[in-house]
Amino acid sequence: MKNYQVPQNLLRDRVILITGAGQGIGRTAALTFAAHGATVILHGRSVKKLEAVYDEIEAAGHALPAIFPLDLEKAESRDYEALADAIARQLGRLDGILHNAAKVDRPQPLEDQTLEQWLQLLRVNLAAPFALTRACLPLLKAAPDAAILMTSDTHGHVPAAYWGGAAVAKSGVETLVKIWAQELEIYPNLRINAVVPGPVQSPQRARTHPGELKDNLPRAETLMPLYLYLMGQDSHETSGQVIEAVQA
Ligand SMILES: NC(=O)c1ccc[n+]([C@@H]2O[C@H](COP(=O)([O-])OP(=O)(O)OC[C@H]3O[C@@H](n4cnc5c(N)ncnc54)[C@H](OP(=O)(O)O)[C@@H]3O)[C@@H](O)[C@H]2O)c1
Repeated sequence: MKNYQVPQNLLRDRVILITGAGQGIGRTAALTFAAHGATVILHGRSVKKLEAVYDEIEAAGHALPAIFPLDLEKAESRDYEALADAIARQLGRLDGILHNAAKVDRPQPLEDQTLEQWLQLLRVNLAAPFALTRACLPLLKAAPDAAILMTSDTHGHVPAAYWGGAAVAKSGVETLVKIWAQELEIYPNLRINAVVPGPVQSPQRARTHPGELKDNLPRAETLMPLYLYLMGQDSHETSGQVIEAVQA
């Protein structure tokens, strides 16, 4: 998909929600989707970071974004419902969600992880994409062509020692995508997939792999042809897939 020739207006008139849009891959995706015509909804915890992304999009002359901060570690059902209601009221539609926000602790053996740590990891990385998708389903079903894109991780895809609760949550995301794709088969306008980004430069990566040389890693921009393909209409027949960026 690295050679995907992206139509410039691929996402024109679409409203796309991006979680964790304040930095890293989410920030790059927000800027890229906006550059391809989307009105993006920027979600994250830090309003300051989201405002900086908003300013970049405004300065580039793209459609003005919306900002919806929500801490996924604390969010309850009513918060997800309120977010979906606000999108319906303020933007009137929703054509896609990129579930990108994630909590990843530094690598650690399972026996050193606590139940409380696990519950936070499962809440942010697995329960949040489920609850947010569920709340937004009526809007997505009503859209002419809608895409839900979840984010897995190399160690969620192929389990490895020391990645603990974060990896377990990400493998749950892959299962969630496959179950939901089957249940949504009756909606040909709606697809759900997961992407495994592989190593790219980001603040999270710098934290989890402190010994790695940043300049040896690809930039988040290299993922964007795949993300655009999966968010836009050219992937309308693709659903229930877990796609590894390095192989795509
Ligand atoms: N970078 C890589 O090499 C790599 C490899 C494989 C998979 N991935 C996956 O790709 C996605 C993006 O990764 P990244 O490296 O760009 O991560 P990142 O730089 O750490 O960014 C993660 C984003 O998630 C948000 N977030 C974290 N906890 C949150 C919470 N409790 N509530 C709301 N938002 C929260 C953060 O928002 P705030 O800053 O506002 O807190 C931040 O914007 C993740 O799903 C990650 O697992 C990345």
